[in-house]
Amino acid sequence: MNEALRDKKILIVGGTSGIGLAVAKNAVQNGAYVIIASRNASKRLPALNNLPESSIEMHVLDITSKEEQSRLFEVIGVIDHLVVTVRPEIKSAPFQTIDIEKAKIAFETKFWGPYHLIQMAQHHIREAGSITLTSGIAGEKIYKGASTMALINSATETLCRILAVELAPLRVNVVSPGFVEPKPQEILEYATRFPAGKIASLDDVAKAYIGLLANPYITGTVSVVDGGARLI
Ligand SMILES: NC(=O)c1ccc[n+]([C@@H]2O[C@H](COP(=O)([O-])OP(=O)(O)OC[C@H]3O[C@@H](n4cnc5c(N)ncnc54)[C@H](OP(=O)(O)O)[C@@H]3O)[C@@H](O)[C@H]2O)c1
Repeated sequence: MNEALRDKKILIVGGTSGIGLAVAKNAVQNGAYVIIASRNASKRLPALNNLPESSIEMHVLDITSKEEQSRLFEVIGVIDHLVVTVRPEIKSAPFQTIDIEKAKIAFETKFWGPYHLIQMAQHHIREAGSITLTSGIAGEKIYKGASTMALINSATETLCRILAVELAPLRVNVVSPGFVEPKPQEILEYATRFPAGKIASLDDVAKAYIGLLANPYITGTVSVVDGGARLI
């Protein structure tokens, strides 16, 4: 149990699936109260059934809608921590053939959505709290066909450093995952060649968020959880 999270109110945007859901479970197991928000977060997920009902609430939110963001904060009030794990729909494509309109929608979801959400949330997050965003290995290592995510992820990491200074003493950090569920099995198998030599569990990644939320002296950093992918 990480006592630093006991009774803390944590909003997780993108918490209905994958990494965000794993962060939600870990946070509740560490005594936090979790608010999950995403487009389909209308009803309690079976994956949360073994956790106390009184420690989780769900809200529908499309992160690209300023109106929905504003309504959400009216309802939930003040929080201690904000975590964003939204994933845009974007297919891998060579730069020459990228559909720029789809690339812009991906930016709206994963970059401008959180950007605006933070502008709105800064007045709703306690001073001793934090914001944790999500980037990804493509922001650092160049993979052919992944340029849109590369640009979004590196912009997110730069935004983190800017906000760590401009919003201080509020802390702002990023987690950069390598490859984990729900990536296709062949990609997960490929990832066993990285130095860590195993397929990452969602829990391996979620624990990086918990560490950043709980540690009052970490800000402006990127916590890389990629099994060493960027080194080879
Ligand atoms: N999995 C990996 O291997 C990997 C690797 C590198 C980086 N990442 C990054 O890690 C983050 C989490 O990825 P994941 O693999 O865990 O994704 P995931 O399982 O697909 O979950 C994505 C979450 O984002 C929510 N979402 C999508 N669009 C949204 C919108 N417009 N407004 C609000 N919520 C929205 C989804 O819920 P709804 O559908 O209900 O809206 C869902 O809860 C992403 O930023 C991804 O780029 C993942």
